Amino acid sequence: MSRVKIAPSILSADFTRLGDQIREAEVAGAEWIHVDVMDGRFVPNITIGPLVAAAARRAAQGVIDVHLMIEQPERYLEAFAEAGADFLTVHVEAASHLHRTVQRIRELGMKAGVTLNPATPAESLSEILPYVDLVLVMSVNPGFGGQSYIPTSTAKVARLRRMLDEGGLGHVELEVDGGVTAETVGEVVRAGATAVVAGSAVYNGRSSVAENVGRLRAAIEAAEGAR
Ligand code: DX5
Ligand code: ZN
Repeated sequence: MSRVKIAPSILSADFTRLGDQIREAEVAGAEWIHVDVMDGRFVPNITIGPLVAAAARRAAQGVIDVHLMIEQPERYLEAFAEAGADFLTVHVEAASHLHRTVQRIRELGMKAGVTLNPATPAESLSEILPYVDLVLVMSVNPGFGGQSYIPTSTAKVARLRRMLDEGGLGHVELEVDGGVTAETVGEVVRAGATAVVAGSAVYNGRSSVAENVGRLRAAIEAAEGAR
């Protein structure tokens, strides 16, 4: 299995020096940069839009991984394609014509991701899995950084790992988002994740970005050895 990607969420970064914060994460070995887009309707919070995603694109060398927590995501696919998103992920709860939306994301030259809230069953993705490049499992209720990992998420990741493997879809990325820390990342990786989002575990006042990414990497490698 290829190495698990670390995707720091800029939601917890210092926005007065966003470019530096992105570069610090990449120098420390983070492969993806995770961009959390919230509209104040699908989730209570309002965060950033295509302009800041485009700024992240200019700062980053690697992959820009955009997570749309917005109603009617189909209205903004072009805007995020122009912003330079590599992965564009939409919520199954927010997209009423999910198959069409996923096709459109790919037509626009991006990789298509689908994600689901903690209470939405893994099985709700069964029909769409053959059409996606990424599945994102929310391990907190979306809306805010710094929440605690919901323990039952691990079984859900394992279930999706099985669904992908049994469907001959081993190439699809399986990403986990919310409450991922050096303490929780081991079980996430052992359950079969291929990428992990980390916001407050990477960007916090306690240690440097380099130390925080290093700690996550060490925990991931220990878990990779065990699977
Ligand atoms: C939650 C966002 C997450 C969040 C993760 O709504 O989708 O990406 O920023 O933050 P942590 O890692 O602090 O839970
Ligand atoms: Zn996210």
